[in-house]
Amino acid sequence: MMIVALNHKTVPGATEATVLGPFFAHGAKEYEYGADLREGASMKGEDVYVSGRVLSLDGKPVPNALLDIWQAKADGIYDVQTEGEFELRGRVKANAKGDYAFKSYKPKFYSVPIDGPVGDLIRATGNHHMRPAHMHAIVSAPGYQPVITHVFVEGDPYLDGDAVFAVKDSLIGKYRKVDDPAEAKRLGMPNPFIRLDWDFRLAPDAGVKARKAIAPSDAVA
Ligand SMILES: [Fe+2]
Repeated sequence: MMIVALNHKTVPGATEATVLGPFFAHGAKEYEYGADLREGASMKGEDVYVSGRVLSLDGKPVPNALLDIWQAKADGIYDVQTEGEFELRGRVKANAKGDYAFKSYKPKFYSVPIDGPVGDLIRATGNHHMRPAHMHAIVSAPGYQPVITHVFVEGDPYLDGDAVFAVKDSLIGKYRKVDDPAEAKRLGMPNPFIRLDWDFRLAPDAGVKARKAIAPSDAVA
């Protein structure tokens, strides 16, 4: 998170960055609008429909963005921590109007691995080893600065004490329960289901160059 703070200074109005974490993987399957990331999942969770827009800082839709999405399974373990196929992971394409949508499971809180030096470090601090529930996303589009971020779950018991200090208030999403058979049918979801509406806002590439140009004097200060 210190590296994020140094290298990804917040651009006002843009989605904030947070830690990449060790569980990102290249080469996830590409999906179109409305994709089902629950495909092939080895365990069930709470069904969630995630949708929203990718926008520029002035609120205009960013066409054809790519959302690299990943999250832990219902047992708090990521697919890449065990043998087997990718799970709850995909590269979801937003459409030409900037809209994206996919189906997944609601994330749950989990423990960071504590069987190695990270566990020793956390025990030495006296802190707990839990991370609040979150979905990971890297959102990118031509002409814009990509953002590595999370969407956390409002009401999660560990929001105030994330073991890796990655929570930012602007990244906490409201997962709301929907009990509407017609809406469920329209979206191809079971009823009831959970819905997350979430917009990502990207800063233009030009902003990155301008901030890089002033970085040396920042360092001296
Ligand atoms: Fe994570």
